[in-house]
Amino acid sequence: MIASAPGKIILFGEHAVVYGRHALVSAIDLRCRVEAKKCSEFRVISPLGATGLDLKVHPYITFAIKRFCDFRKIEGAEIIVKSEIPIASGLGSSAAVTVATLKALSYEFGVELDNEEIFETAKKVEIDVQGRASGIDPFISTFGGSWIFPERKKVELPFQFFLIRLWERSTKAMVEKVANLRQRYTEAVDKIFDAIDLIALKAPNCGLEEFEELIYMNQSLLRAIGVSSPEIDEIVSKLEKDGFKVKLTGAGGGGCIFGIFQNKKPDGSILVRPELEGVRIEDS
Ligand code: MEV
Repeated sequence: MIASAPGKIILFGEHAVVYGRHALVSAIDLRCRVEAKKCSEFRVISPLGATGLDLKVHPYITFAIKRFCDFRKIEGAEIIVKSEIPIASGLGSSAAVTVATLKALSYEFGVELDNEEIFETAKKVEIDVQGRASGIDPFISTFGGSWIFPERKKVELPFQFFLIRLWERSTKAMVEKVANLRQRYTEAVDKIFDAIDLIALKAPNCGLEEFEELIYMNQSLLRAIGVSSPEIDEIVSKLEKDGFKVKLTGAGGGGCIFGIFQNKKPDGSILVRPELEGVRIEDS
């Protein structure tokens, strides 16, 4: 059985959302496809390599299979992954592969899991791997659309976005870095999170010009919590000089920068649109 799930872009609110603040998030039209087949052993084949259950190479799929066994104990499965979502780039590739794996397994093994169960299970998988997570990535991969999270307030985003890929980085490491900073400066960091919260809540009611001002403000606050870097700041400044308003999306430290597309896009960037559909079964 083949299932697919979309990647995502966090417009506003990454990191703050881990501490109960709001974020504005949208699914995007890049998908991860996972095929699950009955098999006598566990095999995982993805762009990362071909392994058995392997927490180093395929941590999300391995934990997804373990968590699936809470619903139905299985002795083997072949999982084949093909993804349009760049890995370790802040675009939700890990959540998409987790959610699509759970959906494909549930259909292949005849276990009825509704979207709430898929989301809750994928959230557990994320915490298994990362230690700390808000659940925003599995939520958006499961349900699609654009939302204020965690309220689940649906919004419409009449924009197309450009994305510039930087370099790969680990979400776990960036989440730990912020946790560390917050431990040392709890009140100051919480005030920054409060400001990010207000930005995320304000954004859905804004026109283009204000939306771009909020992008600038949120990027500055991400810098304040240490998830930008001199290299990233340099790229952001260069783009700002060229007239673009951009911010990191996702955990930062690398990953991707996004902005709103209006006629022109930075060299080397790709365009993505909000995606309405979440996880789904594909025709094989
Ligand atoms: C990662 O896409 C977003 C973070 O806020 C982590 C999380 O919410 O789990 C950095």
